[in-house]
Amino acid sequence: MIIILIGYMASGKSTLGKLLAKKLHYKFIDLDDYIEHEEGMPVKDIFKKKGELYFRKAETTYLNNIINKENDVVLSVGGGTPCYGNNMDVILQVSHVKSFYLKASLSHLVDRLKTKKSKRPLLSHLKTEDELKEFIGKHLFERSPYYDRANYKILIDNKSKKEIIKELL
Ligand code: S3P
Repeated sequence: MIIILIGYMASGKSTLGKLLAKKLHYKFIDLDDYIEHEEGMPVKDIFKKKGELYFRKAETTYLNNIINKENDVVLSVGGGTPCYGNNMDVILQVSHVKSFYLKASLSHLVDRLKTKKSKRPLLSHLKTEDELKEFIGKHLFERSPYYDRANYKILIDNKSKKEIIKELL
């Protein structure tokens, strides 16, 4: 089984993915870390030096590689992964893949991301909280139709990690 955690930036995919993998005695893979390892540079440098399109193509390639070769793994993907190319179709078509959308409200995400922008190239140019809110609100409007196709949806606002893991299990 491959369990894929999807959701917007800062929805806790990596932290929860690690905890879930431990509980299930599965391996944990974070797609951004995998890309950084394969490409030999941080995501923000890939965006800066090679551009977003290069990153999106690499993201699709590595997602497919992992789905084709791994098993008994929890995979957390980037916030944009389900929303480009046919990535969400691939995630839904493979029978041993189950996807979970960790759904957070706009205010929850703004709250979390206002102090976590620096590693995230798509947000680093935003200066005020209002700008961040406007950007994330529009982004969620565009991306939610992809996220909403996941097999399962878990609302994460005001829940502890323990509660979310229990629901995932
Ligand atoms: C992105 C999310 C990031 C990373 C890249 C692009 C996005 O991952 O893949 O900066 O398009 O939402 P996280 O969701 O882990 O921050």
